[in-house]
Amino acid sequence: MAIILAIETSCDETAAAVVERAGENKFEVRSSIVASQIDLHRKYGGVVPEVASRAHVENIQLVTAEAMSEAKVSIRELDAIAVTCTPGLIGALLVGLNYAKALAFTAGVPLIPVHHIEGHICASYVENAVKLPFISLVASGGHSAVVLSKEYDDFVLLAQTRDDAAGEAFDKVARALDIGYPGGPAIEKAAKEGNDKAYTFPQVKLDDSDDFSFSGVKTAVINTLQKAKNTGENANVADIAASFQYAVCETLSERTIGIAKKRDVNQIVLAGGVAANKLLRAMLEKKCAQNNFNFFVSSIKYCTDNAVMIAVRAFFSFDKNQFAGLDLNARASCKVGHFTPVEKPVETVEKVCDK
Ligand code: KG4
Ligand code: ZN
Repeated sequence: MAIILAIETSCDETAAAVVERAGENKFEVRSSIVASQIDLHRKYGGVVPEVASRAHVENIQLVTAEAMSEAKVSIRELDAIAVTCTPGLIGALLVGLNYAKALAFTAGVPLIPVHHIEGHICASYVENAVKLPFISLVASGGHSAVVLSKEYDDFVLLAQTRDDAAGEAFDKVARALDIGYPGGPAIEKAAKEGNDKAYTFPQVKLDDSDDFSFSGVKTAVINTLQKAKNTGENANVADIAASFQYAVCETLSERTIGIAKKRDVNQIVLAGGVAANKLLRAMLEKKCAQNNFNFFVSSIKYCTDNAVMIAVRAFFSFDKNQFAGLDLNARASCKVGHFTPVEKPVETVEKVCDK
C-alpha cells in the first residue's frame, strides 16, 4: 500500500517518519526519528527561533536519511512526501518545507502540505481505532483547542485559547518557579511531591464562550511567588506546581466534556504535547468513563511533536489528490479548521515537476 515520508520542523524537534497505509484508517509506522533541540534551548529557558532554524538545517538531512534507512525504503518507493507548512516558527517551518520540496522534485512524487495541529489529532489513529464523530482536545505549546471531526480529515474548531496555550502556561510557570525547561515535564515532576489543594488557582470560564484563558492562572502563580518574596515566606514549589497543574488539567478536561455533551458526541481524543501529562490523561479518562464516553489517547511519543502524525494526516489528502506545487509557502499562523490543504491543486506528479 502507499508509503509516505513526512517531515516536521515547526518548532524545536527535527522529525522525519516513513509510514505505510495498512487500511482506510490503519497505519504501519516503518520509522520515526525525532532529533530534539531541548538541550540547545535550555540555557535560554525557551525556544530561540533563530537557534531552532539553524539546528534544523544541521539535522534535517541526517534525520531524514535515518528515517529512510530504518524503514528500508528507497526514495523511488515513496508515493508522496508530506511536510508541515503551518502553524509554527516561520524560519523553522521553511527549513523542512524547502527540504521536502527538493526531495519531492527529485523523486518525482507529490508534495502534501500538512497543518501541524491536524497532524496532532491524526496521530491518535496510529494506536487507536478512533470512531467518528469525535471531539479532540489538542493541548500543545502553541495551541489549546477543542475540535470536532465528523470525518477523519475534517476539523471544526469549537473552542480555543484567548491568550496563553496550556503548554505555554506550563512553560512560563516552570520558569517563574525556576524548576527547568521544558516546563510541562518539570511541573509534573515537582507536583509529585506537592499537595494540589494547597492553593486555589483560578479555573477561568468565560460567560459567553467555551474558549480557554490560561493567562490568569499563570499570573496568579506569579503573584503568589511575589507575595511570598515580599513577606519573606518560603513558597512551597511542589504545592504550587501541584495546585497549578490541577487547575489547568481540571479546566481542560471539564471544558472538553461539557462541549462533547452539548454536541452529543461521545468519542473523545486527547492530543498534543500536554497530553503527555499523566494527571490530564487520568482526569479526562475518568470523566469520560463517568459519562460513558470512549476515550482515546496515544503513547507519549505520538503526543509530543513527531513526523508520524504528519504522514497520517497526509494520507487523507493523498486520497483526494490534494497535492501542492513547488510554490507552496509556509505560514506562521493558521487556526485549526481554517486550513485549506491546497489552494491551487496540482493533480498529477508531472505538473508538480513541470513547475
Ligand atoms: O505538541 P508539542 O510537543 O509542541 C508544540 O506543538 O507546541 O507540545 C509542547 C508542549 C510544551 O509546552 C511542553 O511543556 C508541554 O507540551 N508538555 C507537557 C508535558 N510534556 C510536554 N505539559 C504538561 N505535562 C507534560 N508531561
Ligand atoms: Zn505540536
